Amino acid sequence: MLQYLEGPSPIVFAGQRQIDTLQSSYAARGYGMLFYALARVLRPLQAVEIGIYQGFSLLSIAAALRDNGVGRITGYDLFESYPYRHADRDDVCRRVEAMGLEPWVSVDAGDALRIHERWDAVDYLHVDVSNTGDTYRRMFSQWSTKVRQVIVLEGGSPERDRVRWMIDYDKPPIVPAVHELRLAHPGWSFTVLQPFPSVTIACNRNAMGAVGP
Ligand SMILES: C[S@@+](CC[C@H](N)C(=O)[O-])C[C@H]1O[C@@H](n2cnc3c(N)ncnc32)[C@H](O)[C@@H]1O
Repeated sequence: MLQYLEGPSPIVFAGQRQIDTLQSSYAARGYGMLFYALARVLRPLQAVEIGIYQGFSLLSIAAALRDNGVGRITGYDLFESYPYRHADRDDVCRRVEAMGLEPWVSVDAGDALRIHERWDAVDYLHVDVSNTGDTYRRMFSQWSTKVRQVIVLEGGSPERDRVRWMIDYDKPPIVPAVHELRLAHPGWSFTVLQPFPSVTIACNRNAMGAVGP
C-alpha cells in the first residue's frame, strides 16, 4: 500500500478517476486508494467523516462501501459557516448523485465538536478539519469509546506540523499529541503514514475482530 503513496495510483475502483480530479491535499499521494482499501478490508457498517470539502475522502470510502455491498458513511461539514476554504453542500450532493453513491452516503451540516453527540457507536471515523494537536485530543476524548474499528485523522508527521498556517497561527502540533494519546490509550495502536499531508490511523485493538459481514 505504501508504495502507492509515492507515485500515481493505478485505477482500481469505479469512480476513482472522477475522485482523483477533486481538489484535496490527499490526492497527490494516492491516499484515496488507502481510504478505499481500508474500508474494503474493514467493511464498516457505520462510517462517519468530519470535514468533507469537495468529497475526495468521503467518495473514496463510499466507493468501497458500494463495492462491499454494505455500510453507510455520513459526512459532516460546516459548509459556508466555515470562514476559510470550505465545502459547498450542493456541489457535494450533486457529486454523490452523479457517481450513483446515494445509497451509501449521507451529507449533513454539523460542527466537529458536537457530532459525537449524534452517535452511540460507529465503526470508522475520519477527521479532516484543518487538524491540530488539539483536534486529535478532542476527537479522542469524544470518540474513543464510540469507535469500534479505526479513527483516521489527517496529519501526524513533523512536516505537517510545520505547514505555514500551523506556525503563523501558533497552532498546537500533532506529533506530541499522538505521543500523548499512545500513552493514554493503550487499547489503541497508532500508525502514522508520513507522505505529506500524512495520515494517522488509530486502530481499536479490542474490537478489530468485530468487523461487519
Ligand atoms: C481539509 S478540508 C477536508 C478535505 C477532505 N476530507 C478531502 O478529502 O479532501 C476541511 C473541511 O473541514 C471543514 N471544517 C472546518 N472546521 C470544521 C468544523 N469545526 N466542523 C465541521 N467541519 C469543519 C471545512 O469546511 C472544510 O470543508
